Amino acid sequence: MGTSHDIDRLRALTGIKWQRFAGDVIPTWVADMDFPTAPVVLDALRAMVESSDFGYNMTSFDDSIPKVWTEWSLRRFGWKPEVAETKVFSTTLQPIATALSIGTAPGDGVLLFTPVYPPFFDMVTKAGRRLVEYRLDEAGWRIDGDRLRAAIDPGTRALILCNPHNPSGRAFSREELQAVAQIAQEHDLLVISDEIWQDFVYPGGEGHIPFASLGPEASGRSVTVTSASKSFNLGGLSCAVAHLGDARIAAGVAALPPQSLGGVNALGAHATHAAWTHGEEWLTETTGVLHANRDHLMARLAAELPEVPVETPEATYLAWLDFRATHIAPDPAKRLLKHGRVGLSPGPDFGTAGKGFARLNFATHRELLDEIIDRIITTVRGTS
Ligand SMILES: Cc1ncc(COP(=O)(O)O)c(C=O)c1O
Repeated sequence: MGTSHDIDRLRALTGIKWQRFAGDVIPTWVADMDFPTAPVVLDALRAMVESSDFGYNMTSFDDSIPKVWTEWSLRRFGWKPEVAETKVFSTTLQPIATALSIGTAPGDGVLLFTPVYPPFFDMVTKAGRRLVEYRLDEAGWRIDGDRLRAAIDPGTRALILCNPHNPSGRAFSREELQAVAQIAQEHDLLVISDEIWQDFVYPGGEGHIPFASLGPEASGRSVTVTSASKSFNLGGLSCAVAHLGDARIAAGVAALPPQSLGGVNALGAHATHAAWTHGEEWLTETTGVLHANRDHLMARLAAELPEVPVETPEATYLAWLDFRATHIAPDPAKRLLKHGRVGLSPGPDFGTAGKGFARLNFATHRELLDEIIDRIITTVRGTS
């Protein structure tokens, strides 16, 4: 698909990525890809649309989605979650909010590894929980066991892990995850592991390691949330799964009136089912495109904009650009939007650790990516 044709499609989309900014701005913010989803997913959706298959649909409430997810997870990551411990939710964030409300009490501390995906902050503080911060080490965005231990205070009851990590693109190593598991055990913490980025881990490292795969102790104190929405570009279709390994959380969820959790849209459920059943070939191809984009982006930034350092993302299609040495800090996304007409995610939204940074989404066509990079360079090199 040529870019000029696709740019017309992209600009006509109703989603927020291409709607938020004026028509001359290239958006590279929210985590949607600019590529259409997998043909197998489109076929599943088309079949439903063509037969007006919109009646009450129980697919999302039976075991079919947990079953295909657990098989996907076994095939790709060597971890087979128990189907009986897995439940379908509407979004990935919903089971996080639910687990926090069941597993912690108002005033309890919840630790975040910052900078991190912005909604986590409100999920902690608007629920009346206390934010406990662990700042990832800037040199490599690593987790250090001793520093983590020191960050935890006696009132800390839970932590939210984002693995792979948004925005740094880290795929945490087994050693780092084992340190988290060990410390969680020492302090009896609930571990909520957001693994929505599980599929986009590039070759060269250990691959994606599900937290709960570390062993029964880790599994038994954790809730793992994920969905097909990042991997297959289905963010608006709202269908997710959670493995409720922590029996207390599973019992708390089972005790809720089911209506309080809402339901899952049949289109989202069928798209997810098709993705996890037949989507692997497309995903492999797409990951190859993202990998090449990542390398291209890193090479251009290193050669043409060395004053903006970036750690090479090991995972995700996000790059976390450090503009602190430039004149466009502390909120570079604002200046890039105003002067460069390019829409990145503002670093400060990712916590105080994000001051001076901006997040770039490289899941786009090469020509658009080059235009995004050109505009960033022109803005940084400009004087306005
Ligand atoms: C780490 C992380 N969690 C959750 C989400 C959103 O997932 P959902 O729309 O399924 O709640 C995103 C979206 O970008 C994300 O990056």
